[in-house]
Amino acid sequence: MATGIATAKLILCGEHAVVYGEPAISVPFSQAIVKTDVTEATETSFSSAFFEGSLDEMPAFLAGIKEITEQILRRMGDKKVMINVMSDVPIGRGLGSSAAVAASIVRGLYVYFKQPLTEKELLHWVNQSEKIAHGKPSGVDAVTVVTGKPVWFEKDKSLELIHFNQKAHFVVADTGVPSETRSAVLDVGHLLQNDPQLYQPMIIKLGDISREIKKYFETNLDVAQVGLLMTEAQKLLEKLTVSDASLEKLIRTALENGAAGAKLTGGGRGGCIISLVENQESARKVADALQRGGAARVWIFTIGEDNQ
Ligand code: MEV
Repeated sequence: MATGIATAKLILCGEHAVVYGEPAISVPFSQAIVKTDVTEATETSFSSAFFEGSLDEMPAFLAGIKEITEQILRRMGDKKVMINVMSDVPIGRGLGSSAAVAASIVRGLYVYFKQPLTEKELLHWVNQSEKIAHGKPSGVDAVTVVTGKPVWFEKDKSLELIHFNQKAHFVVADTGVPSETRSAVLDVGHLLQNDPQLYQPMIIKLGDISREIKKYFETNLDVAQVGLLMTEAQKLLEKLTVSDASLEKLIRTALENGAAGAKLTGGGRGGCIISLVENQESARKVADALQRGGAARVWIFTIGEDNQ
């Protein structure tokens, strides 16, 4: 048996704007992991909490995974395998589950077939899968999942890693509502096409917010200021129509219970929120309130120093 592992991702800021060349800060979300076991079999089949069956029977939402799996198996001489995916990453919640599942399968297959796998090759496979799954992704999910490092991501530019100078504490909560990344990305595209004068400045402002937040993370983290910037980003994302009532309810709960700032993370329209808090004590208070307020799942997440 061979095993491949991949970690989910969390976008701290810059989602949607990143599709139009603005920067995003994205970090590996180490509390949500995908593990894939690959074993010998007489027929190639797939087993997971979200689908069980042969590759041919895979549903449309797994078309990207199906395509790259078939290509890799062909390359490896059409051998038959059983692919068993075990994931803590909720699907379609803006945490990069599709990229993480793809990365863990590719890693598992390469280990099984005893083939070396470079980061570049893995990125190629994950990007290919993501393009089929999401249309025109910026590539931020794939890069974060493949590198497993906090990234300052700008489309078509060389990758920059971001170093967190101090610990930053976050509370992440899942609305339980599936995120509609594909349609949200398409709709932002329509808004920009139909009224660029109104919407283009919002995209640029989201980029400016990412640039400001980066400075705070890399120097002195002013939690109150970064929180305000995150909430400002949320207001812009609302104007871009990618938020929804389920996200805004959790954001309100986080802010009313002491979070310095909160916003959606990832594609939006369902999915998860991320809130910044001062310390672990505040994180617990916000997490409890989110749980009581109906979040499907809540995680306390720290990044910085020994976490990188
Ligand atoms: C999805 O995790 C992030 C978006 O910006 C889409 C993308 O970058 O491809 C919404």
